[in-house]
Amino acid sequence: MSGHKSSYYLTTPIYYVNDVPHIGHAYTTLACDALARFMRLDGLDVRFLTGTDDHGQKVEKSAQAAGVDPQAFTDKVSENFRSLWSDLGITNDDFIRTTEARHVRACQALWSKLVDADEIYLGSYAGWYAVRDEAFYGENELTETPDGKKVAPSGAEAEWVEEPSYFFRLSDWQDKLLAFYEANPDFIAPASRRNEVISFVKGGLRDLSVSRTTFKWGVPVPGDPDHIMYVWLDALTNYATAVGFPDTDSAEFSKFWPADLHMVGKDIVRFHAVYWPAFLMAADVAPPTRVFAHGWLLNRGEKMSKSVGNVLRAQDLVEKYGLDQVRYYLLREVPFGNDGYISHETMVGRINSDLANDFGNLAQRVLSMIGKNCGGEVPAPGDFTAADTALLNAAQGLLPRLRADYREQAFHRALEATWGVVGDANRYVDDQAPWALRKSDPPRMATVLYVVAEVIRHLAILAQPVMPGSIDRMLDQLGVAPDARSFAALETPLAAGTRLPPPEGVFPRYVEPDQDGG
Ligand code: MSP
Repeated sequence: MSGHKSSYYLTTPIYYVNDVPHIGHAYTTLACDALARFMRLDGLDVRFLTGTDDHGQKVEKSAQAAGVDPQAFTDKVSENFRSLWSDLGITNDDFIRTTEARHVRACQALWSKLVDADEIYLGSYAGWYAVRDEAFYGENELTETPDGKKVAPSGAEAEWVEEPSYFFRLSDWQDKLLAFYEANPDFIAPASRRNEVISFVKGGLRDLSVSRTTFKWGVPVPGDPDHIMYVWLDALTNYATAVGFPDTDSAEFSKFWPADLHMVGKDIVRFHAVYWPAFLMAADVAPPTRVFAHGWLLNRGEKMSKSVGNVLRAQDLVEKYGLDQVRYYLLREVPFGNDGYISHETMVGRINSDLANDFGNLAQRVLSMIGKNCGGEVPAPGDFTAADTALLNAAQGLLPRLRADYREQAFHRALEATWGVVGDANRYVDDQAPWALRKSDPPRMATVLYVVAEVIRHLAILAQPVMPGSIDRMLDQLGVAPDARSFAALETPLAAGTRLPPPEGVFPRYVEPDQDGG
């Protein structure tokens, strides 16, 4: 797309290793995976990063509770995330852990730059801290429970902390951040999150405590190892570490930084959209291009989390419904950016209507007709009618629309547009009734089947980012060579005469287990 650079660097949050991975974590990573695949198919040089946030008081406490040292604990739990991503077909190019040497070096270098710029000073912190959020809170942000506990808006309990601490001069950054948001209207999306961040910053910023002394599990502050860095300063730096920071002159860093997108859940937008650009600008490093904060997946009306006890495991859903089905459902069902309820009923609805009936049957019936009536070869079309051209144009018009939707992380809109053309194609087949042309007008039947096959090729190529496995099989059946599946290949139409393997359905219907075999 003109105006964009040829590389695309996107990141997931790095996940805390105190938690077992669940569908909420998978949601963020799946969305990024679809985006990464889309950008690769569109010819961009993609760097897709995920990883784990190994440090902090929360993780240290979990390790203590498990009776193991934090390094051994994080080695084990980090692996759960790595294997989940492999089960879900995630195509991350790198997996970072904050305990790695490359990262400790990057954090210490960033710290030193901040010190050199006089952005950090030693003081002492007396205030509230919520370990579950790893966040400092002002008194005014907390509510008190009947038994006198202080609770953050997230529901996490806050405790009073008093300790020596280094501070980052965040209060100096209020105007500069507001000017930055103003100059970069796409920096935070969706708009609701942007407004929330702007009003938070307008409300005034206090200097931020960026070191802790009462526990050990973190990156030591250069020159003062009694202090470890605040876990969010450490964690955010991962995005720069992974492309070579502090070697800002390296080819890698110049190519991929600033990051094109940090994808996050709305719970952590403040860290990404306020603290992170302030740290970077203070260190004279360019801030990222965009932060998109999606909503929460809710189960039984609440954000899924281990502490609430309502988590769904991605692997269980995949086993029950199929990987591509889960990927499609999550990106299609909930407008990306909103909170969303997930349920068995809506999942089955999507699988059976959108996938099995609408797209699966379209491919299956057209490919079977080609198999039976055209000798198993892509038929040669004659002249196109207005109806043929209208359908082909609709399919060819999808790529520019999808580019805009993916650039805005509007996955649901991209899928809705794609399935709009699936609907057009089904109506076309019904109207043209190729089965009735078999005897009356075989050349016209050949044209109709060719047109639908060519439209299915478009739809399939464009649906690859969301359902890579199933679509690979569909493209095999359409005789599309593996090296002819990029978006650039859309421009080369199906070649008449290509031999096709016998068709088989790629999107099975979901059948309730108790009806199975009945
Ligand atoms: N370690 C920090 C992030 C540091 S990034 C520099 C953290 N980790 S986390 O394990 O708590 O994961 C947070 C992310 O997981 C959320 O921002 C969100 O992307 C995802 N989700 C966790 N639960 C979720 C839902 N129930 N629904 C949707 N996304 C959820 O915060």
